[in-house]
Amino acid sequence: MSWPQRIEQALAERRLNAAYRRRQATEGGNGRQIRLGDRLYLNFSGNDYLGLSQDARVIAAWQQGAQRYGIGSGGSGHVTGFSAAHQALEEQLATWLGYPRALLFISGYAANQAVLAALMQKGDRILADRLSHASLLEAAAQS
Ligand SMILES: Cc1ncc(COP(=O)(O)O)c(C=O)c1O
Repeated sequence: MSWPQRIEQALAERRLNAAYRRRQATEGGNGRQIRLGDRLYLNFSGNDYLGLSQDARVIAAWQQGAQRYGIGSGGSGHVTGFSAAHQALEEQLATWLGYPRALLFISGYAANQAVLAALMQKGDRILADRLSHASLLEAAAQS
């Protein structure tokens, strides 16, 4: 079966199982409130729990950072993407949380993958709530 045929088959299965998803473009950010078309909704589906993405102080700090460092990481943290700002943030987070070190990840997904891959060994048993985040369950399965 060719790649296009596989894709078509997978899409057909999703449509059949009512699992076909369409993305909807939002307007005006992805904070506590979200605009879809001309309607405003409370957003229970995002990660911006504290609404910080819309906070003027955070936006100003972001703009300062862009002026100072430019935009984009320029590389993985393993090569050139780990900046003095990242290092300072890790140090401040560690101090704030009372741990000797903290490690930033680009996403929660990446953190879950890395933590389980690093900690688990053959023969270990993972007990996970089935409502754990999908990335954690996936990491457990892959470990
Ligand atoms: C416990 C947990 N793990 C992982 C994630 C995924 O985070 P991200 O969207 O940054 O990959 C989330 C996001 O809500 C989460 O709540």
